[in-house]
Amino acid sequence: MSQKQNITDVLMVGATGSIGRLAVQSAQRHGMRPRALVRDLRRGEELLPGVELVRGDLEDPASLRNAVGGADAIVLTHGSGSDSRADARAHVDYGGVRNILQALDGARPRMALMTSIYATRSDIPGATPWKRRSERLLRASGLPYTIVRPGWFDHVGQTQRRLVLEQGGTADGGIARGQIAETLIRSLLTNTALGKTFELIATEGEEPSDWAELFGALKTDESGSVDGALDPSDLPVDAEPRAVRADLDAIRSPHGTSG
Ligand SMILES: NC(=O)c1ccc[n+]([C@@H]2O[C@H](COP(=O)([O-])OP(=O)(O)OC[C@H]3O[C@@H](n4cnc5c(N)ncnc54)[C@H](OP(=O)(O)O)[C@@H]3O)[C@@H](O)[C@H]2O)c1
Repeated sequence: MSQKQNITDVLMVGATGSIGRLAVQSAQRHGMRPRALVRDLRRGEELLPGVELVRGDLEDPASLRNAVGGADAIVLTHGSGSDSRADARAHVDYGGVRNILQALDGARPRMALMTSIYATRSDIPGATPWKRRSERLLRASGLPYTIVRPGWFDHVGQTQRRLVLEQGGTADGGIARGQIAETLIRSLLTNTALGKTFELIATEGEEPSDWAELFGALKTDESGSVDGALDPSDLPVDAEPRAVRADLDAIRSPHGTSG
């Protein structure tokens, strides 16, 4: 069973990206009205013909206030992949989530955040905790959310359509971009996806038919914790940089978490 909760106006962050464009299409298929946050209106018009655009830069908090206004839901698929700055992940992957949350100024849209497989894996060469930290901000905000950590984009065969949702950070594998986009949008429409964080890969088999059951089989993130269910405990908040702790403190709502 899939329950629509009056989600019409959806702000798409990262809408011009390889997942974002597909998420816009998925939102349209489900009868939503996606609104794309874009840095460059001309690029947005080219990549997203006919889609409502709103200008904003994730690194410019003032530009986001207008963009988030009136959104029933926000889907975040942005990424710093094409940004060569050494601190791009901190500024875009993490800072973008912080700035969107702060721009909400008390509004409570449904949130769907895409991070990545390996988000909690400190043992992977080149790994940084910035996506994990962005997830923590969202949990601490107290907003209704789902966090999707997809596997390797399109590293699957055409017959690998069965979705595998895992928790604990050890999943490995690929998934079609379209299925990542569809999962993000379905999460907005399905009550059993609320408060869940999971890795997402695909294996041999058919597409899901019962999204409520698929999400419902997962553990809910523990209330009061900034981590996802079954996440490793190797990134204690107390040992985080001062600025990260300050962001967490600032984002916590009176009704949010305290861990
Ligand atoms: N490749 C994989 O197998 C894999 C697997 C799991 C997770 N991931 C993660 O997925 C993400 C990439 O997804 P993708 O392929 O959809 O990304 P993408 O095609 O590189 O698109 C990135 C999006 O983020 C937007 N963006 C970047 N900086 C911004 C800013 N300052 N303000 C507003 N928007 C900004 C870009 O907008 P512009 O059009 O303005 O540049 C674009 O829409 C990465 O974070 C990566 O770590 C990748």
